[in-house]
Amino acid sequence: MSKPTVHVHDFADRLTLADKLSQKIEAQLKKGIAARGHAVLAVSGGSTPKALFALLARTRVDWSKITVTLVDERWVPETSERSNAAMVRNLLLKQNAEKATFLPLYNGAKDPVAGSAELTKAIAALPTPFDVVVLGMGTDGHTASFFPGGDHLAQALDLKGKDTVVAMEANDAGEPRITLTLPRILDTEALFLHFEGEDKRKVFDEARAGGDYPIAAVLSQSKTPVDVYWSP
Ligand code: 6PG
Repeated sequence: MSKPTVHVHDFADRLTLADKLSQKIEAQLKKGIAARGHAVLAVSGGSTPKALFALLARTRVDWSKITVTLVDERWVPETSERSNAAMVRNLLLKQNAEKATFLPLYNGAKDPVAGSAELTKAIAALPTPFDVVVLGMGTDGHTASFFPGGDHLAQALDLKGKDTVVAMEANDAGEPRITLTLPRILDTEALFLHFEGEDKRKVFDEARAGGDYPIAAVLSQSKTPVDVYWSP
C-alpha cells in the first residue's frame, strides 16, 4: 500500500486559517448529510481551535443532523476549566450549532479505565465512517492524547487494534485522559491536522522526516489522507 498524501496548507495568519478550515469542514459536513442524512464531527480540545469553533457555530449547515464528539478528553467534569467538553459547549455548540447532538467523552466514572467500557459502547453507536476529524498537536509532538511516554501509547497507536477508546496517563498530560485510538480516528471521510506557530511547525517537519513523535504515526499511515492547516 502506498502512503496517502499529507497536504500542507499554509496561511498568513490564524484568522484566515480558521476561516478556510471552517469552510472546508462545512462543505464536508454538507456532503455527509447529502449522502447519508447525517454527519459526525470529532474535534480536539486545547486552545488552538477556539477561533475555528466560533466560526463553525455560525455556519449554515443542518446541525440537527450532526453529532459532535471529541477526539480526546482530560478526565475532569465539565465544571473544570480543563474540560474539553465545556470548551466545545461554550464555543462550538452555540448559535446555529446549538441544534447539534453532542457526545462528550467524560462520563463521570471514577477514572478513564473505569469509564472506557461505557464509552466504547457510546462511540460504537455513532455512524461510521466519521465525516470530519480535526486533530491538534502539542510542541512535544502529541496529538489527541497520544503523549510521548504515555502508558497505553502502543495500544492507542496499534493500527490492527480493535479498541476505539483507550485511557492514557503521561507525565506531561496533566490529569488522566481518554482518547480515541488511531484506527478509530483514521476511519473518517476527512482528516485535518490544525496547529499554529513556528515551534510546532519545527516539530511537525521533524516528525514528517521520520522523527520519533506520536504525530508521526498519523503522518506515516497508509489509510487516510491528512490535510494540514498551519499558520505562524
Ligand atoms: C487536549 C487535546 C490535544 C491538543 C493539543 C494542542 O485535550 O489537550 O485534544 O491533543 O489538541 O494539546 O493543544 P493547544 O491547542 O492548546 O496547543
